[in-house]
Amino acid sequence: MSAPKKLFVKTYGCQMNVYDSERMAEALGSEGYEQVATAEEADMILLNTCHIREKAAEKVYSELGRFRPLREAKPDLKIGVAGCVAQAEGEEIMRRQPMVDLVVGPQTYHRLPAMARAVEAGEKALDTDFPEEDKFLHLPKARKPRRGPTAFLTVQEGCDKFCAFCVVPYTRGAEVSRPVERLLTEARELVDRGVREITLLGQNVNAYHGQGPDGEWGLARLIRAMAEIDGLDRIRFTTSHPNDMEDDLIAAHGDCAKLMPYLHLPVQSGSDRVLKAMNRKHNAAEYVALIARIRAARPDLLLSGDFIVGFPGETEEEFQATLDLVEAVGYGQAYSFKYSARPGTPAAEKPPVPDEVASERLQRLQALLGRQQRAAQDAMVGREVRVLFEKPGREAGQLIGKSDYLHAVHADAPADLIGQIATVRIVESRANSLKGELVTQSVSA
Ligand code: SAH
Ligand code: SF4
Ligand code: F3S
Repeated sequence: MSAPKKLFVKTYGCQMNVYDSERMAEALGSEGYEQVATAEEADMILLNTCHIREKAAEKVYSELGRFRPLREAKPDLKIGVAGCVAQAEGEEIMRRQPMVDLVVGPQTYHRLPAMARAVEAGEKALDTDFPEEDKFLHLPKARKPRRGPTAFLTVQEGCDKFCAFCVVPYTRGAEVSRPVERLLTEARELVDRGVREITLLGQNVNAYHGQGPDGEWGLARLIRAMAEIDGLDRIRFTTSHPNDMEDDLIAAHGDCAKLMPYLHLPVQSGSDRVLKAMNRKHNAAEYVALIARIRAARPDLLLSGDFIVGFPGETEEEFQATLDLVEAVGYGQAYSFKYSARPGTPAAEKPPVPDEVASERLQRLQALLGRQQRAAQDAMVGREVRVLFEKPGREAGQLIGKSDYLHAVHADAPADLIGQIATVRIVESRANSLKGELVTQSVSA
């Protein structure tokens, strides 16, 4: 057999891309590629890209520029661009950066083996279709090695919501749910390989409506079925839209012990006028009332959100409404962004808020969210929490893992606790993590 060819994959953007990168590496594995940790060793470099904000897309072009010396030193080096920039820009990428041999959109990476053969033969390969077939079904079914204790599992892809600022409906296409049986099989396989925690993924994961044995299932039913899998101890899901937060899913937060008390539920703005202009289809009061219902089901829920400041036309008063909503709701974790005009989206046609104004608002919002995040973390001190240990920590003898609330926790613990859930007493709240002391080891949740 010839020596394995070396593949370097770099991933940008959301967790869907992390999941897709793993699947792409598996698809190329069937062509004799083995993953390596640096671009320098690679025979093929694949950038799995994100188009959500302008900066994310520009990063891809500057990264490609940095590969020039590598290509000059190794003319056979193949360079590919995958993901949402590939979908949005297509051939334009090869025009702007002629070094690029391969462009593959997020819906066609099951065709990568054939594309890899084409580029190895010196051709260029481009595929940004939205095919009918399920890209996941075409992936190799070979027995896979053991892996770390946490995994992502894509259950739903694409989005039909068309928020006025967002590229996802264009780069990922229409909303599609994967069938229940496939997902349960994939989840069982992951558990057999050592996985204890699965995060169900989708751009609009709570809009999931996959074909089940007796008709369509929603996300709550899928979660309840996954909770029956022995050896799977924790279930999470992301990202959700407030309008798809159905009663059964709210109830599951209260009665499904394996569903973790953490919810990422973006609201984007606290101003009703801005929410309408964003095409979010709910107002601020409805969101606040929804959070109250979810918290009634699960009082210790740690809530996370996404915010955009400086959406076209946003006034100081409207921005203030976002701060008020944040004060009223209380977030344990959050992501906040300055609005970035994306070509082809309706909001990009509108006159922007001056950059200095948007930057200043972002600072104020982040200061408030930062205080809330810190308070939520500090409130853990003195409590006993369950931690799924994932890997060794920075200091000798230490392990690091996540609590039910998704806080990073490190504690002195024996290495054989990696992949196990243990009870840890939190003794200190640090900048981005909690320090704990091991109380007892418990093998299951
Ligand atoms: N499907 C999810 C989020 C997908 S994108 C949802 O509906 O909430 C992740 C986040 O990026 C969004 O929640 C939004 O806050 C941010 N985002 C998307 N487009 C953006 C843009 N044009 N400018 C700034 N932030 C944006
Ligand atoms: Fe984008 Fe809105 Fe769809 Fe989320 S719901 S992916 S923000 S269009
Ligand atoms: Fe980015 Fe595409 Fe995800 S644009 S956020 S990688 S869906």
